[in-house]
Amino acid sequence: FFDKIQAAPADPILGLGEAFKAETRPEKVNLGIGIYKNAQGETPIPRAVKAAETRLLAEEKTKNYLTIDGVAAYNAATQAMLFGENHEIIANQRAKTAQSLGGTGALRIAAEFAKRQVQAQTVWISNPTWPNHNAIFQAVGMEVRDYRYYDKNTHSLDWDGLIADLSQAKQGDVVLLHGCCHNPTGIDPTPEQWDILANMAAEKGWLPLFDFAYQGFANGLEEDAYGLRAFAKLNRELLIASSYSKNFGLYNERVGAFTLVADNAEIANRAFSQAKSIIRTIYSNPASHGASTVALVLQDPDLKAQWTDELDEMRERIKTMRQKFVDTLKECGATQDFDFIVKQNGMFSFSGLTAEQVDRLRDEFAIYAVRSGRINVAGMTDDNIRYLCESIVKVL
Ligand code: LMR
Repeated sequence: FFDKIQAAPADPILGLGEAFKAETRPEKVNLGIGIYKNAQGETPIPRAVKAAETRLLAEEKTKNYLTIDGVAAYNAATQAMLFGENHEIIANQRAKTAQSLGGTGALRIAAEFAKRQVQAQTVWISNPTWPNHNAIFQAVGMEVRDYRYYDKNTHSLDWDGLIADLSQAKQGDVVLLHGCCHNPTGIDPTPEQWDILANMAAEKGWLPLFDFAYQGFANGLEEDAYGLRAFAKLNRELLIASSYSKNFGLYNERVGAFTLVADNAEIANRAFSQAKSIIRTIYSNPASHGASTVALVLQDPDLKAQWTDELDEMRERIKTMRQKFVDTLKECGATQDFDFIVKQNGMFSFSGLTAEQVDRLRDEFAIYAVRSGRINVAGMTDDNIRYLCESIVKVL
């Protein structure tokens, strides 16, 4: 049976990680996959996370199965992170959350749910976006349409294009939005623009789906939830795929969450029972360690304060490296204006490098980035930034 199967293309992001691992040139630099690195180029386990894990290992008494929706304390803490403590949605039990296998797992549950239970046929996705968005919705058989997002001449949000394209989205269509730190552009709507979009969603009857994987990386945990909370004010139904991979540094523990918000508690419970059926047929129930760790950190005021400080450190380091990157490019003789990079949010910068320039960086200089021109600013350190900028200037 298998001899006729065609090889699948390498994943545009995870495939890079494999190629980087195999790279033997010692000067190699990885600006591909979205992982945080500290000033030493390491991806450490945050101290608050390590402390929670240590406590967990000492205290846990069983490896019994979790329920289909996972660790209850984790799901409750997730809702508080998304909407804010004591939000009306939480008080009225209009939200239901299931722990998921990372943000990708949550997106897949959301896609299956939208297709099977809401009979949604079409999803609107920003252009550009994280490549897996398209693949996930195609995998459930939905039509993927894109809306303009990025103006490459001004390196900013193509607001008019976005509004023109989303005006065509119909009632019942899923509209996918990046909660903050848009991947790959690093450009987010302003609060005023979020308000307009939230209003448009309510008027037109879209089913909004937030992909919220970088909370805390733009301006802070609360600030970064502005867009989602603006939607929550005006829209009675929402889907959210969240992830703690980045802000807790728990990448390989696969800590994500699928949340649905309904008009009232009774509908939420009914709809959520269907989401649980979807989960049961995919992976039955999730793994405990990562989610229990997150729950412990978020429930313990000292650990939470320590974690928030560590998250602030990560965000500030990325901001510092953005400025250094722009300054060093200038010092190395770049004549183009790269100042827009300082204004972008989160780990990524949409550098404007072409696919050919990205290929040359890899082939000639062992520098790995995504072919869309997305570079991970968190991969820059004082040790590699000069080499990186000199190489970029050579390929420009
Ligand atoms: C990324 O965009 O690099 C991350 O979200 C990792 C991934 O799964 O692609």
